[in-house]
Amino acid sequence: SDRISEKLTELAKRRGYFFQSSGAYGGVGGFYTFGPQGAALKGNVEDAWRDRFAIAEGHMEIDAPTIMPEPVFEASGHLETFDDMLVECPECEESHRADHIVEDETEYEDAESLPVPEVEEIIAEYELVCPTCGAGLAGAAIEDFNLMFATNIGPGDSQPGYLRPETAQGIFVEFPRLKEYARNTLPFGVTQIGRAYRNEISPRRSIIRTREFTQAELELFVDPETSEPDLTLVEDVSVRLYPATEQQADDGSEVETTIGDAVADGTIADPWIAYFLGIAQEWYASVGVDTDRFRFRQHLAGERSHYASDCWDAESEIDGNWIEIAGFAHRGDYDLSKHQEYSEERFTVFQQYDEPKTVERAVVDPDMSYLGPEFGGDAQAVVEELETLAGRDRAAFEGETVDVEFGDETHEIPVEKTGFAVEEQTEAGEHVVPHVIEPSFGVDRLVYTILHHAYREDEVAGEERTYLDLEPEVAPTFVGVFPLQSDDDLEDEAEGIAAALRAEGLSVTYDDSGNIGRRYRRQDEVGTPFCVTVDYESLEDGGVTVRERDTTDQKRLPIDDLPETLSALRAG
Ligand code: GAP
Repeated sequence: SDRISEKLTELAKRRGYFFQSSGAYGGVGGFYTFGPQGAALKGNVEDAWRDRFAIAEGHMEIDAPTIMPEPVFEASGHLETFDDMLVECPECEESHRADHIVEDETEYEDAESLPVPEVEEIIAEYELVCPTCGAGLAGAAIEDFNLMFATNIGPGDSQPGYLRPETAQGIFVEFPRLKEYARNTLPFGVTQIGRAYRNEISPRRSIIRTREFTQAELELFVDPETSEPDLTLVEDVSVRLYPATEQQADDGSEVETTIGDAVADGTIADPWIAYFLGIAQEWYASVGVDTDRFRFRQHLAGERSHYASDCWDAESEIDGNWIEIAGFAHRGDYDLSKHQEYSEERFTVFQQYDEPKTVERAVVDPDMSYLGPEFGGDAQAVVEELETLAGRDRAAFEGETVDVEFGDETHEIPVEKTGFAVEEQTEAGEHVVPHVIEPSFGVDRLVYTILHHAYREDEVAGEERTYLDLEPEVAPTFVGVFPLQSDDDLEDEAEGIAAALRAEGLSVTYDDSGNIGRRYRRQDEVGTPFCVTVDYESLEDGGVTVRERDTTDQKRLPIDDLPETLSALRAG
């Protein structure tokens, strides 16, 4: 039902998880502020991600700017292809995503991958209407709308810049330096947690689709020939997979399997993707995603991004709908090759061979004297052209030509006239453009999933109660500390306990307002796992009541033991 989403949105606003930004000015679609609880939860989720995907894996973390110059996105392909399908209502002039309207109103599940004319046809055939005013959309033209946010760097408009649509590009452009930090050894990984920006046509469903959001991304640079993951670490992890073949079959369904079996039977073709799905499955469970409402779905061929050769999404179930919360893509050498092509830098790693190899290399007369004076001395272009021919029998070049550009003209030069020869050389290694495996997590969608999956309603002592069953590791507050009544002695004792627990590194809320039942409810609603209450007996016997959130069970514990006992509970 939609009820949990609605209740959650209300709770999130009232208790300080998240709310629409700039409300004093009427708000604007697609921007949300995380309040104190939300910022703490999000921070804890990011810390947990960093622990698992950066620190435990031995990868580096960087923090790059969110604005980057235009050439970066010319190279990455985002200016050219990062588009969504926009349809403007002829009646109310509101803009909508054409593919979303099709997906919401017809049996087509992946309209985004359909060509524009086909989507136009579907809209006409099903007589689809504008979600805002109900006017018919048949005949309305669909256009490609680029999602990049543009800005200017410095005064004037001579240096266009863009807000990054993915944190990944901040990693790719720094590759020439990052590989040095990794001592030119593959594989190595670089992570980044930060904001990304997309000018979404119709932001919707709360923080699920916004125009500014946080990603946690890992770019793993591998040697396509030699780098391999240690699959024994994840082979026993159980997963629910929805492969492309099943999605296309008439009676297709999800497959319950293990990572080991899915690799063995070819369901997951790429071992690195398999490795990360295994890690992600366990990590998502650890931060509170309900694994019964979670799966990995493979992209259909038409659905993949411009850079991806294979991609699986992590999806969570929210009110009966599956939403994408992460993508695991094989980006091949797409990004590094593009940046190498468009920039002055080398985006390769020199890979040493186990033993030096004898290879054939093309060589030409470097001063090009044989071409005659009108061709100048640019030997490099000829060498590059000829290198593609190296390794072939010398006789095979007879009669072949190479294209050599000088100024605006291209000249076809017979190979024999270039002074070309194949020489045997001993080489220690080669320059390799690494391939990229990319686990890319949306932090906001994960925070939303965690809250949704943690939402509970029950009855305590005849009264309805709402609580969030959050994992202690991510809960914004770990323990609430209350003096039973307003009384100086009780308050002093309780403040002392709060300070001792904070010194232990636990996040503590001190609350002395309202009756004790109300204070418990307040903590239940924000998902605080434990509450400690100081009463008059505490002053006598040095004990306090510790209440557990989910069961509401209460236990008496000595004040002196609290820091150690609660720290142990926090650590799990
Ligand atoms: N670097 C790869 C990349 O950006 P993506 O699938 O476009 O891949 C990764 O985005 C994740 O970012 C998604 O799985 C989703 O969780 C999150 N995300 C993407 N667009 C979003 C939006 N408009 N609002 C909130 N989260 C979004």
